[in-house]
This record gives sequence, structure tokens and C-alpha cells, in this order.
Amino acid sequence: MKRSSLPVVIISSLLITLLNSCSNVQKKHDDTLGLKNVSEFPIGTAIQIQTLMNDPELSKLQIENFNSITSDRDMKMNRIIPTEGNYNWKTVDTILYYAKTHDQRLFGHNLIWHSSTPEWVETKGAKDSLWLAKFMKEYIHSYVGRYKGKVAAWDVVNEGFETVGGNYRKTFWYNKIGKDYIAKAFIYAHEADPKAVLFYNDFNIERDTVKLNAVLKMVKDLKAQGVPISGIGFQMHIRMDTPDDVIANSLRKAAETGLQIHLSEVDIIFNKHNDTQNGGIQIYNKLTDEMRKAQAEKYKNLVLMYRKIVPKSQQFGITFWNFTDRDTWINPFFNLKDWPTIYDNSLKPKPAYFGFKEGLEQEIN
Ligand code: GLA
Repeated sequence: MKRSSLPVVIISSLLITLLNSCSNVQKKHDDTLGLKNVSEFPIGTAIQIQTLMNDPELSKLQIENFNSITSDRDMKMNRIIPTEGNYNWKTVDTILYYAKTHDQRLFGHNLIWHSSTPEWVETKGAKDSLWLAKFMKEYIHSYVGRYKGKVAAWDVVNEGFETVGGNYRKTFWYNKIGKDYIAKAFIYAHEADPKAVLFYNDFNIERDTVKLNAVLKMVKDLKAQGVPISGIGFQMHIRMDTPDDVIANSLRKAAETGLQIHLSEVDIIFNKHNDTQNGGIQIYNKLTDEMRKAQAEKYKNLVLMYRKIVPKSQQFGITFWNFTDRDTWINPFFNLKDWPTIYDNSLKPKPAYFGFKEGLEQEIN
């Protein structure tokens, strides 16, 4: 190894001291403050209300850290209207009560999603598209109308584009109503609650440029037609090897629309999958300290990118899709053993938690 000359050593150590002191220019660090207390925008989590209510330790953490809540299943169509004519509002009312009690924003996820369309709707709609169009209108009007002023924002359409690339997903809704089902859903939601923030939400748009461009083109077209879309949701189910500069670029492009930007379902995995159920590809079997640190850094960078790139007025918030490795959807869904969240299996904060928090606290200019 080449030896450095003395002046170089002195200058570089001065530089390092200077850099360290700069990165220490942070808001006063306080371990007792939850994430929500050090954030300029809402921090949320998707969670099952039942899990929360049955687990006091989990709900303590949830209350300490979050000021926004999304239901991970109970607000989807197959739960709201499981059989014809039978709206089930009970669980949503319970979630709303919880949100109100703990001063949390309630985020509505979601109105139209091919994966949560009840079977009876598909059967009936397959035979009669006119009925389906009417049903969609009535459903959105009743649901959004009932929670007008109470549910702050909605994912109006979830995953309307193919997994990969720039084509509209040929869902049941698309096939029966046509591409306009998206515009209509937004219009109906706005009619029912003009103040609600209305999102289009999708996955992989932080890394699939073709898909992102297609979504942005749709947003532009919808806006040109006067359709009341007010936000873009990046699900942000990312991997450790999703390059930060690619994410940054996508956030920048989305922010240029002027719409609200929500990181709506954040988690960061180490292993891989092919985007389909049971499609996990196990690469890492054990979580090492080095991996923990790298994940902390990734979480920190994600928050910093969001804060630096998305203008304050468009920062709708960051929401985790479950916040513990114990409860994450990743493992059962992809049939993987992974550690994607900020709390471990025994509900202890991981380095990822502190990385994320540091990203919230660090001064930026
Ligand atoms: C997608 C959906 C969510 C949820 C997750 C996995 O990202 O938007 O509602 O189903 O998958 O649980």
C-alpha cells in the first residue's frame, strides 16, 4: 500500500473531522421520541386492526411511532361488500375509532383493485357491464360518502398497470368498463368527498422506468381531462439492490406533476422474488450485523431522498406495510425468509428503525 505523506494525512483527517461534524448537524436526538414526533410529514403503517387490538405491545409501538394508519385488508372491496347488498362497515368504524382516539390520519386503501374484487361482483359483472358500471358508481359513492371528512385520502385505483412495462393491466374492470374505469373511479370519489386526497397507487414504479412513464402519462391525460386525481402512491416494496439513484430519479419525475407523493407500502427486502405469489428466491438465510447496518443506511437514504426531492407541500407521508418482521406480508406471500421492516420478530427496533429516524432528523438544506 502506498504510504501518504504527512501533510496529506493532516489535511485528510481535518477534512474527515469537518465532514463528521457536518453530518452531526442534526436535530437533537432523543431516543424517547417516536418516528412521528421527529417528522415533518405523517408517518404511517398498514396493519390489521384485529392484530393491533389483540396485542398491547404492538399497539403501544404503533401509537408511539405513527400518526397515520392504513388497513392492510379490511377496507378492500371483498371485506366491505362480501355478498350482494351487504355492506359491512363495522370494521372500518372500529379502525376509524382507533384512528380518532390516537389522533391518527386514516388512509383508505383501496377502492378499486382487481385482487380484492369479490367473486360475486365478478360473476355478475361478467354478464352485465352496464350493471357493473352502475355498481362501481354506487359503491364508491356510498363508501367514500359514508366516511366523508373522516378518511383523509384514498387509493382510488390500485395497480392498474401490468407488473412490468407500460401497458394497462387487463383486469376485470378494464375488460368490462374499458380504460375509463380509472377516470370514473376518481370522479365518483371526488363527488362523494371533494376534500379527500385521491391517489393512484402502484408497485415497481420506483424502478421500472417504462411503467413509471406510463403512469405519468396517464396522470397527465387525466389532469388534461379535468379528472380529480391528487396523488401518486409509490408502494415502494424495494430491495437492497434497488439503486438509490434510480429511486431518486423516479421521485423527481413524479414530483414534477405537482401531485401529492405518498410512499405508501414501504419495506426493504434482502432476497429476491419474481413479483408473484410463492415466487421468492432465497439468497440470504441469515441476517448478519453487516446486513442490518446496510438496511439502516438504505432506510435512511430513502427518507432523505423523499425529503430532499419531493417539495414539502407534496409530502403526503411515508407508510410502512406492517412494521415488524414478525407481521410482514413478505414471508408468507413470497414464501421467503426475509427481514424487511424496522422492528424485529420480538418487536425490538432494528438498526433500520434508527436509520429511518436519522433520515427524518438529519438537517437538510
Ligand atoms: C399490494 C397491495 C396491498 C397488499 C400488498 C401485500 O401491494 O396494494 O394492499 O395486498 O400487496 O399484502
